[in-house]
Amino acid sequence: MYRILKKETLSEQVKLMVIDAPLVAKKAQPGQFIILRVSEMGERIPLTIADYDAEAGTVTIIFQEVGKTTLQLGMLNEGDYILDFVGPLGMPSHFDSSIKKAAVIGGGLGTAIAYPQAKKLHSMGVEVTSIIGFRTKDLIILEKEVGAVSNKLIVMTDDGSNGNKGFVTDALKAEIEAGEKYDLVVAIGPLVMMKYVSQLTRQYGIKTIVSMNPVMIDGTGMCGGCRITVGGKTKFACVDGPDFDGHAVDFDEAIRRQGMYKTHEAESCNLFKGGK
Ligand SMILES: Cc1cc2nc3c(=O)[nH]c(=O)nc-3n(C[C@H](O)[C@H](O)[C@H](O)COP(=O)(O)OP(=O)(O)OC[C@H]3O[C@@H](n4cnc5c(N)ncnc54)[C@H](O)[C@@H]3O)c2cc1C
Ligand code: FES
Repeated sequence: MYRILKKETLSEQVKLMVIDAPLVAKKAQPGQFIILRVSEMGERIPLTIADYDAEAGTVTIIFQEVGKTTLQLGMLNEGDYILDFVGPLGMPSHFDSSIKKAAVIGGGLGTAIAYPQAKKLHSMGVEVTSIIGFRTKDLIILEKEVGAVSNKLIVMTDDGSNGNKGFVTDALKAEIEAGEKYDLVVAIGPLVMMKYVSQLTRQYGIKTIVSMNPVMIDGTGMCGGCRITVGGKTKFACVDGPDFDGHAVDFDEAIRRQGMYKTHEAESCNLFKGGK
């Protein structure tokens, strides 16, 4: 059992929790994730390790309440326990020491997953421009935290209610056309966003890493649930990723596969909200 030491609400549907998990914290690295189960009958869901403190033995997770399990998790409070908390899983992010300047792009909740990547690059002495985008101002998360690990921060909102109006791709294109020379772009967010960022950076020949988030079940490369196609080859996001070369990922297939369980997910969430 894993104790919730701290709980914070970042926006209406987004919560942060600090979990007492010393064994996970000891081995965690940026880019990795955990799989948790809230209760005995619950499903297993993957969440990124947003931060960790090996000395304090804590792991921070940030999640958006989008369905049954994340809603259940969000109902827990400080002092409550999570049944299973397995990790760290996946390959740590690998950043070449030759990188001098990078753009880190976070779309919506993807900002929480991009934050540890920006932090890692910044700690390596890389000049980091972070571009984070949200539908509207009420959904903005981690602006201060991402700003603290960036040399430049650009906030975008789709409706212009805060920061600049437009998509993260608009800001990235403007930066590149203004003469910024990035050695690397890291893009994390909805599949459609990562697809368009990758299309844009391909035109300029900028190496691009994306973090793939297919449905995962065991997280150990055994079930095949998280398979994606990268460079024409089948990869399992849980063990080969979740970071991949954005220019090689088959996004259209990934988008199709992500919608496969939509009906079941909606049914399960409605039953939960109805108290069943
Ligand atoms: C490597 C990885 C890291 C992730 N990190 C984060 C994070 O830091 N914060 C965050 O809020 N979300 C993260 N996610 C997504 C998170 O796992 C889903 O939001 C969660 O599983 C939804 O479960 P649910 O029961 O609440 O919603 P459901 O109604 O069951 O599903 C809502 C949507 O979540 C996705 N999903 C559902 N089940 C799974 C599953 N077992 N594995 C992966 N995706 C699923 C699907 O796209 C689905 O349409 C990550 C996913 C992956 C693969
Ligand atoms: S989650 Fe089962 S193979 Fe990746």
